[in-house]
Amino acid sequence: MPDLEPRTGELLAGGAAPAASPHPLARDARRRWWRSAVIYQIYIRSFADGNGDGVGDIAGIRSRLGYLASLGIDALWINPWYPSPMKDAGYDVADLRGIDPRFGTLAEATAMIAEAHELGLRVLLDLVPNHLSSEHPWFQAALAAGHGSEERARFIFRPGRGTDGSEPPNDWQSTFGGPAWTRVTEPDGVPGDWYLHLFAPEQPDLDWSSPDVRAEFERTMRFWFDRGVDGFRIDVAHGLAKANGLPDVGSLTWPPTPGDPVEHPHWDLDGVHEIYRGWRALADSYADPRVFVAEAWVIGRPERLARYVRADELHTAFNFDFLFTPWLAADLRSTIDDAIAAHEAVGAAPTWVLSNHDVAREVSRYARPQGVRRLRHLSDLLDLPADFHLGMRRARAAALLMLALPGSAYVYQGEELGLPEVEDIPDELLRDPTWEQSGRKDRGRDGARVPLPWSGEQPPYGFSPAGATAAPWLPQPGSWRELSVEAQTGRVRSMLELYRAALRIRRRNPALGDGRLSWLPSPDGVLSFAREPHFTCIVNLGADPVPVPPASRMLLCSGALTSAAELPSDTAIWLER
Ligand code: GLC
Repeated sequence: MPDLEPRTGELLAGGAAPAASPHPLARDARRRWWRSAVIYQIYIRSFADGNGDGVGDIAGIRSRLGYLASLGIDALWINPWYPSPMKDAGYDVADLRGIDPRFGTLAEATAMIAEAHELGLRVLLDLVPNHLSSEHPWFQAALAAGHGSEERARFIFRPGRGTDGSEPPNDWQSTFGGPAWTRVTEPDGVPGDWYLHLFAPEQPDLDWSSPDVRAEFERTMRFWFDRGVDGFRIDVAHGLAKANGLPDVGSLTWPPTPGDPVEHPHWDLDGVHEIYRGWRALADSYADPRVFVAEAWVIGRPERLARYVRADELHTAFNFDFLFTPWLAADLRSTIDDAIAAHEAVGAAPTWVLSNHDVAREVSRYARPQGVRRLRHLSDLLDLPADFHLGMRRARAAALLMLALPGSAYVYQGEELGLPEVEDIPDELLRDPTWEQSGRKDRGRDGARVPLPWSGEQPPYGFSPAGATAAPWLPQPGSWRELSVEAQTGRVRSMLELYRAALRIRRRNPALGDGRLSWLPSPDGVLSFAREPHFTCIVNLGADPVPVPPASRMLLCSGALTSAAELPSDTAIWLER
């Protein structure tokens, strides 16, 4: 098993530990910790299963907090754990202020938050404000109350088009495939209004012009903040406002194609920002300010993304442009420059993210030819040739690049193990609604959600306790024996030890985390930049080895240097000058 020694020291890279700190989090209470933090994403149903039912839970998280603390991260973000019919893995929330019994109880959640704090780890939850579950009492009441009711005003109900209303109100499509509207049967048994769902039909969109909706989410945030939660990841942060009159999308695409007008009828409308200004005021009303990170899929428009992180709005936003940038030096450099410039203009720190539960894992993305097309889901990868050894080399180098960039970074569970996307989950086991809603064309996101391998020789690889009554909810590949935490611990060239070393260095080195970077001269295909004081990162994305500057000391390297002590292709190095 990994070293479970809890960490109680520094929270910010480079900060010196105080002589005697009353509490691990007290030291940085007034500092803007989120500008430097490394935040670990826990996809709860696949992290660790404490009760043996094959589904991860809070008991599992609590049993692994020591692992997380010793990994060297600063905070956790936990995907939705609220009561849910699980039509979209918990993003269909039936009770905003409860815990799904499959995951545990509110008492366990509160205890977990306190235990994480004791280990110096902050805790972010997932807030899902764009929609509720169709099982939520509000939606059930809206169905029962009928056309024109106050209950329906919390959602987006509209009459259909055509003489008998049998056509959807507009041409909007669900993100998972198919129309974004479903027609209801009215209480009197006749077909009636349609309701909007930008995701699954079981996820009706809320109407953010409703005062009830606003009050309910404020109440929810306070509820969790009062239980010690340090902040929220805001699900679909770019979706809450819809254009007046709900005009057709027509030929507009999302992400937009260059030359498209800025305004899309339901993504990234200016109306979202006033909502976030209110939330910021609420978060700032706490003595130890609470923070937000926006999940806003505003791709290729860094200056629009930066609007979410203006001084009086959300603190940070995922930088998905970085995740989507192919493993090509010039592309990465311009993505990095654009993100830094756009964030600097509003005084925010950029974030860096390589993967999450919605995209194919980066080992598998980087295993494919780069720059051919945007690689997002498994379906974008399947027809491209794969070299997984190469994918792993690149993922190792990408980790050192990401952790050396100015700002905060996200690590999706299993990324530190170098897990690949699972590409061969049998059709009948796929759970992502994308699979059915796309007419079984898009295999969806399950390949990135397979339960973690912790230890042992065979499934469930320590994910569930001995004597578990059920197999993991998605099958783990046999090859994951080699990738378990236990198998990688102490193996010098393992991905896990690379992450541990990188995070250890990052925490101690004052040059890393928040701050600036300056590019250094480098050949084509090579990224080289300095962070002050005395830190250099070089990433070789070119075909040939490149010399390592003399008079520098190697701190960490993602692969072995050549016999001529040069930095090989697809390798990154951290140096002290
Ligand atoms: C976000 C979540 C994703 C979910 C969707 C709908 O994009 O990350 O998993 O399906 O929102 O809530």
